[in-house]
Amino acid sequence: MLQARKVPAAFRVWVLSHRPGCEGFCCRPGRGRLGAVKLLFIGDVVGRPGRQAVQALVPRLRSELGLDYVVANGENSAGGAGITSKTAAELFAAGVDVITTGDHVWDQKEAAQLLETEPRVLRPLNYPPGVPGRGSCLVRQEGKPPLAVINAQGRTFMPALENPFLLVPPEVERLRQETPIILVDFHAEATSEKIAFGRLLDGRVSAVIGTHTHVPTADEQIFPGGTAYLTDAGFTGPQESVLGREIAPVLRRFLTQCPQRFEVARNRVMLLGALIEVDPATGRAVSIRRIAEPWAVESAPAPAESSSLNGGSA
Ligand SMILES: [Fe+2]
Ligand SMILES: [Fe+2]
Repeated sequence: MLQARKVPAAFRVWVLSHRPGCEGFCCRPGRGRLGAVKLLFIGDVVGRPGRQAVQALVPRLRSELGLDYVVANGENSAGGAGITSKTAAELFAAGVDVITTGDHVWDQKEAAQLLETEPRVLRPLNYPPGVPGRGSCLVRQEGKPPLAVINAQGRTFMPALENPFLLVPPEVERLRQETPIILVDFHAEATSEKIAFGRLLDGRVSAVIGTHTHVPTADEQIFPGGTAYLTDAGFTGPQESVLGREIAPVLRRFLTQCPQRFEVARNRVMLLGALIEVDPATGRAVSIRRIAEPWAVESAPAPAESSSLNGGSA
C-alpha cells in the first residue's frame, strides 16, 4: 500500500485536488505545483458580453484554479472600442488585478483621464514621451509575491510607436529589482514580430502573451530560458462573430467597401486566455495552457450596445 509520506509532492497536489469528473488544470498530475504562482491572462474583452463573461467566470476560476493574479486586456471593453472608467471598474470588481490595452485604448475620450488616475490600467509602454498613462505596474496581493505587468505594442501593420525591442528590456531590468514574476502583454498583429519579441525576452520575464488579433493560437510553450509564450490569447466575448462584431455588417463592408456600423455580436460568448504557473523564487514559468471557458449568454441575453463606425482592427 502506498504510504502518504512516499508520494512525490507534485503528485500529492493532484490527488488532494482531484474531483470526479474534473479534467481541469487542478487535476493534471505534475501540474498543480505547490508554491507556484498562478496567473490567468484574459484575451481582449469585447463589449458588454465580454464584461459579463468576466464577471460571471473570473470569481469561479479564481477559486477553482487557485489563481493568484488575473490580468485582462480591456482595450475593447467599452462597446467593442476602447475603455472607460465604468468598464474598467466592472473588470476590477470581477477580480481582475491589472488591465492592459493596445491600439484601441484612445477610442473613448475619457481614456486619457482614466490612464492618468488608475495605475492598474496600462497603455502600451512604447508610446512617445509625454503621452498620458504608463506601460507597466507592480501589484501586490497580501501574502503573495508581487507581480509586474508590462504592456507593449508591435509596429508591423500597426501605428508607428517607439521600438518595443529597445524600450522593453530596460523596463524589465528595472522591474526585476522588485520581483522576478513579470507578465508581458504584447499587443501586435504580425506573428513573426510577436515570436521574435517573445524570444528577445526569454529568460528575462515569466510570460509573454500576445493580444490584438482576437484569434487564439495553438503555440503555447515554454522557451528554453523559462519564459511561457503564446502568440495570441484570442478574445473574450461573442465568438459567433467577426472578431466580436456582428457578421452581416462586416460582410457588407467587404462586399461594398461602404462604411457600416459594426455592432458587438451576442452569441456563443467565451472567455479565452491562458493560465501560467510561475516558480516564485526564479520567475521561470513551469506550465502554460490555454483557457476557453463558455458563458451561457442564452440564460442572460445582453442588450445591443453602442457601436463604432468602421472599426477595421482589433
Ligand atoms: Fe488591438
Ligand atoms: Fe482588441
